[in-house]
Amino acid sequence: MKTLLKVVLGLALALVILASTGYAWASFTVKSKLSRTYEVHDVDFPIPYPTAEASAEESGVPDATADLSVAGGEAGEVPEDAALAAARDRGKHLVESRYACIECHGANFGGGTMIDAPPIGRILGPNITRGEGSRTLAYTTADWDHIVRHGIKPDGTPAAMPSVDFLLMSDQELSDIVAYVTSVPPVDNTVPAPTLGPLGKLLIATDQLPLSADVIGSHQSEHAAYPPAAAASAEFGRHLAGICTGCHGSAFAGGPVPGGDPSWPPARNLTPHEDGLAEWTYDDFVRALREAKRPDGTDIRMPMAGMTQYAANMTDTEIEALWAYLRTVPPMASGS
Ligand code: HEC
Ligand code: HEC
Repeated sequence: MKTLLKVVLGLALALVILASTGYAWASFTVKSKLSRTYEVHDVDFPIPYPTAEASAEESGVPDATADLSVAGGEAGEVPEDAALAAARDRGKHLVESRYACIECHGANFGGGTMIDAPPIGRILGPNITRGEGSRTLAYTTADWDHIVRHGIKPDGTPAAMPSVDFLLMSDQELSDIVAYVTSVPPVDNTVPAPTLGPLGKLLIATDQLPLSADVIGSHQSEHAAYPPAAAASAEFGRHLAGICTGCHGSAFAGGPVPGGDPSWPPARNLTPHEDGLAEWTYDDFVRALREAKRPDGTDIRMPMAGMTQYAANMTDTEIEALWAYLRTVPPMASGS
């Protein structure tokens, strides 16, 4: 009996030591990861951004994407406030249909929740309006690029924001989003900085919850000036599908959602493989995106079910382009 008790006590002690050493290691690793600074290129872009047509006219390069039937006149003839209003409209469409800032920054951009689960932590999206408590009042265009397309804050440290989803965003799209976000009514709200629980620290320390600043290969590569022309093409679809990769993976083979809520199902295989969407029709795809229903009529679960609010604002051309692209990706077994 006595020996057994000793063994049990000894084991318990060993576990406590192991757990606290592990915790100390994770805390230390996370602290150094989050205080590291990154070298990021400084980009500059105008707000409002010239349209592809105007820019082609200025440079004298004929632009295949220009719609000549609506070209109103010479470049530069568009009045500044009309150009700004058009940029804000484009920005509004972008955040309502695909670049889901409101998911974490709130419907009014005044603050929201990314993760609030004590073991993982409390990771809130800060206020990005022009109100009191805003993080963006002193932002330059380079700062907007750093946070949105690199996951890096103005002081050079990494943010707990999944910016890797926005890697394919062009300068024009970012400019349009900034034009829109800086024009919404100011909200006064101060949001606390992220705090991490033991599981959150462990996940970050072991790269299970990777920081976008580390996932993004280069912080020096140039960004495209314009998105591909909005057409029902695989090229435009590839651009749009950039926002699906965060959950479905860069090869679209699906698998567990990195850093996702433990209650979420694995993301579905979207490739034309028998495990994936090989048997799906375009109509099945539209129904999945707009109504969160599978071809057999069953409900698609969260977080995918939440995509319907964005898909509702996608144009038919955008959904056709996504589908056209997903038919071209190599078929892969699930999770590969
Ligand atoms: C999945 C959640 C999520 C999405 C989507 C998201 N953000 Fe964030 N964002 C965050 C979090 C969390 C922080 C705080 C990061 C930190 O302090 O480490 C943040 C921080 C920011 C900041 C302030 C950084 C600072 O402290 O200076 C800006 C600006 C910002 N996001 C803009 C955007 C824009 C624009 C979009 C849409 C294109 C967007 N975010 C989409 C979660 C998100
Ligand atoms: C936040 C993570 C997330 C994002 C972003 C996301 N998905 Fe999903 N998706 C999932 C998950 C998880 C499932 C599995 C849902 C289920 O099993 O009920 C899924 C399922 C699907 C399904 C199949 C439904 C089924 O179960 O048969 C399709 C089609 C789909 N996603 C398309 C897309 C497309 C296209 C995009 C980008 C425009 C996208 N998803 C973005 C997480 C995501």
